[in-house]
Amino acid sequence: MIDVQNVSLTLGGRSVLRDISLTLSERRIAIVGSNGSGKSSFARLLNGLHLPTDGQVLVDGLNSRSDGRKIRQSVGFVFQNPDNQIVFPIVEEDVAYGLKNHGLSPAEREAKVQNILQRYDLIGLRHQPSHTLSGGQKQLLAISGVLVMEPRYIVFDEPTTLLDLRNKLKVQQAIASLSQTAIVVTHDLDLVSDFDRVIVFDEGRVVADDHPDTALRRYIEAMQDA
Ligand SMILES: Nc1ncnc2c1ncn2[C@@H]1O[C@H](COP(=O)(O)OP(=O)(O)O)[C@@H](O)[C@H]1O
Ligand SMILES: [Mg+2]
Repeated sequence: MIDVQNVSLTLGGRSVLRDISLTLSERRIAIVGSNGSGKSSFARLLNGLHLPTDGQVLVDGLNSRSDGRKIRQSVGFVFQNPDNQIVFPIVEEDVAYGLKNHGLSPAEREAKVQNILQRYDLIGLRHQPSHTLSGGQKQLLAISGVLVMEPRYIVFDEPTTLLDLRNKLKVQQAIASLSQTAIVVTHDLDLVSDFDRVIVFDEGRVVADDHPDTALRRYIEAMQDA
């Protein structure tokens, strides 16, 4: 469970999130809202990439202020642009890298890498330069690099925004098949229609928090009024 308690966040002198309290325990949670409403900043708080200015973030009881390293192990993060996440020139190296200091034998490491690459249809590309992959394949590679670490929670920040429909559907399917808890920041309302919970942000505040149909209706109405 991720517990966000009375969290405010100020960045560069600007109030970005204001007094947010949320307990995140559902398996599929979406974060939606206009550009600049604070979604990415909120997502980054969940794994300690940002620390709250006030309040606290607890992940299974660990405080992001004091246990950042452990929290980053249990909360994986997938960025919008896979080019910012893929660091190694060859596909398999990128997936294997995170496992380097995990005390695994080469055979154990290979088994995990192979398993993940197979799962996302990347096995045939394992020796290819990462930059030759399509946008969708790159995003699946970025997800693979996170999943191979076996985090309990995965935060996605607009994982399908840069993708065409075909690749979007692939990533959507990848998210749907995860056994982990997924917290997904997105503008893609189709993606979240079967989620357990949708949280709507506006100007750094939570303005709706409900089942998808109710939350999305309120979100769409608010946008039409604006
Ligand atoms: N490092 C920063 N310094 C100052 N302002 C920031 C910083 N990061 C984000 N902001 C501001 O915080 C607000 C929320 O940004 P962000 O969380 O990226 O929103 P969203 O992801 O919903 O588009 C925006 O007004 C943005 O300009
Ligand atoms: Mg954002």
